[in-house]
Amino acid sequence: MTLSIAEVNKIKHNPAVDGLLPAIAHRWSPRAFDGRPVSSADLTRVFEAARWAASSSNEQPWRYVVGVQGSDTYNKIFSTLVAFNKAWAGKASVLILGVASAKTGSGRPNGYALYDLGAATAMLTLQAAELGLATHQMGGYDQQAAREALEIPADYALGSVIALGYQAEPASLANDQLIEREVAPRERKPLHDFVFSAWGTPADLA
Ligand SMILES: Cc1cc2nc3c(=O)[nH]c(=O)nc-3n(C[C@H](O)[C@H](O)[C@H](O)COP(=O)(O)O)c2cc1C
Repeated sequence: MTLSIAEVNKIKHNPAVDGLLPAIAHRWSPRAFDGRPVSSADLTRVFEAARWAASSSNEQPWRYVVGVQGSDTYNKIFSTLVAFNKAWAGKASVLILGVASAKTGSGRPNGYALYDLGAATAMLTLQAAELGLATHQMGGYDQQAAREALEIPADYALGSVIALGYQAEPASLANDQLIEREVAPRERKPLHDFVFSAWGTPADLA
């Protein structure tokens, strides 16, 4: 028996902690997408969220190449995905490649480029959650093929491919392995594993 969207979201949504932003509680990375188009107004909103991310020296090194289903850009991004991702990502209505300028405006190396792209992309995924959209980032793609197909200049570093769209029922996925992952509880390290008062000593937060 498989679960409905509502049932799987109940499992996946973050246990309520007072004061968390609702979008943080609701964001997770489904693989089941229903192919429904995302409006250009909502697409604008998710990139507007990325736009307002903080960045080192306000360099704003992020760039996004957006492919809407049926477009050449979508097909090019899709063609670079590893087989595991191809098995589900083709139902996302938008595929986006995030890249970052590895050089600052004055031509020096920007050591924070990918860091800033990640921050902007986190903002994008939270805004999407706020709009009832699902996102799923992928590192499983051929970077060289993506660089060539999308003509990304050499001084841009490649980040993740982001699938964006509306969530579908887990049962719509292509195989049992994907369905199993779709309904599995999410796991996270406890705070004491990564918040320290001195190196290796858990901070006393409570
Ligand atoms: C940079 C990055 C690369 C990822 N690569 C893949 C991928 O290639 N395929 C995939 O199915 N999920 C991929 N994921 C999704 C992660 O597995 C997922 O975010 C993680 O398990 C946490 O789950 P959550 O996003 O639902 O909280 C990636 C996520 C990130 C941020």
